[in-house]
Amino acid sequence: MSALRRLFPPAAALALLATAVAYKPWLHAHLLHVVGPVLSDGFDTVVASAAWLVAAWGGSRIVDALATGTAERPARIPRLLSDLLRFFLYGFAVLAILAFVLDQPVTGLLATSGVAIAVLGFALRNMIADIFAGIALNIEHPYRIGDWIELSPGVAGRVDEINWRATRLITTEGTAIIVPNGIVAGSRFTNVSRPTPAFRVAVPVLLDQEVPVERAKRVLLSGLMCADGVLASPRPDVVVVEATANGVAYQARFWMEDGARVAIVRDGVLTAILGNLARAGIELAHQKREFRPRRSATNPPGTLRRRLLQQLDLFAAFDEAEIAELALALRKRRIPAGTAAVRQGEPGQSLFVIAEGVFDVQLDQGAVPVRLNRLSPGDLFGEMSLLTGQPRSASVIAGTDAVVYELDKDHVDPVLRRRPELARLLAELMAQRQTRNEEERVRQGRAGAAPPPVASQDLLARLRGFFKL
Ligand code: CMP
Repeated sequence: MSALRRLFPPAAALALLATAVAYKPWLHAHLLHVVGPVLSDGFDTVVASAAWLVAAWGGSRIVDALATGTAERPARIPRLLSDLLRFFLYGFAVLAILAFVLDQPVTGLLATSGVAIAVLGFALRNMIADIFAGIALNIEHPYRIGDWIELSPGVAGRVDEINWRATRLITTEGTAIIVPNGIVAGSRFTNVSRPTPAFRVAVPVLLDQEVPVERAKRVLLSGLMCADGVLASPRPDVVVVEATANGVAYQARFWMEDGARVAIVRDGVLTAILGNLARAGIELAHQKREFRPRRSATNPPGTLRRRLLQQLDLFAAFDEAEIAELALALRKRRIPAGTAAVRQGEPGQSLFVIAEGVFDVQLDQGAVPVRLNRLSPGDLFGEMSLLTGQPRSASVIAGTDAVVYELDKDHVDPVLRRRPELARLLAELMAQRQTRNEEERVRQGRAGAAPPPVASQDLLARLRGFFKL
């Protein structure tokens, strides 16, 4: 429809010319007084030339219609091609005027201008190569507007425009890189947005040989699974790529989308990995030339557990002796991936601190469980049943092989009596989690007004009653 509308002006011009031809005798009689015999004789020439130009104009408007895309319908031919077609249409019209209207020998003209064209072509050879490369790129589509491409390490950006001569990339720094099409077509580049928007990134980490590979993989994987921007599917994984004198080289590999966010997601992954390694008491590999006492000689038993407890905000105010006493009460448990550390509805008498691995907290209601949260090393769970005596409010399932430390009610009770601020902190944590769970329940099924937040004061009062504080 819009193509027809575009053809209306050239059609009107052709109609005008046809009318002029029909009224030629009348016009001729009148024009003779005004413009004299010479111009009046040129009438046919002017009308025929105008007809050729109007035909070219009509053709170029059709090309325009095909080249202009809308939100619903993308352009059928690329801009580069439409510019070329327009150029040929007008060039053809000019040649036709020379050959058919002015009766000039066009073949001779083309032949004599051949040398000039060769000279011009030689001078503009790079530009011409770029233009033909641009046409090839437009036909082959190795990348499209919006794709993220990497030309060489560090030279990457989102394709913003592909024009006659060059491709324009916008980098994460907000700068534009203009690459001549000839260079893109003639070199190897990576299109990270194809064949699917997801692509894999690998982060290298070098750890000591002393760290068991299975444990290292568990800790690194939990870092990957906690970081923002890492896709859950395909799943992230950790592989050993090399074992050298300096240590074992691992690659933490994950899938993500959006090439512009690689640095941000890598940062999140490395931050999570380094945090988890520190919590697990694992250091990065060190140069083997330097002398270092073996850690087992320097770390008395229980150091790891104490370090883990010290890193929890909950025990920030505790002194060394109190931490040491609690650390002695911790029981280590290994939870294989996919198994539950606690099950919803079961009675519970203990609290868990995550040392390695990740856990998913989920509500088992209906056929499909509702995921409430993901917990990572340094987080704790099980506080609700321990403190209120209620059955477990949710299931906590290991997302990776995991290691947790369990603390029984018998050991927590005396500490709570001595340290009432611990009860306050736990009440706050429970209130936050319960509010969030209520919101999630409303979102999942029972529509209606948002529930009132669970007040930590109420919980604290209930807790005091429960523990007779
Ligand atoms: P408990 O009820 O003893 O057992 C299930 C545990 O899941 C619960 O204690 C909390 O520790 C934990 N939990 C419940 N809801 C959440 C949540 N929204 N975020 C994190 N942990 C939660």
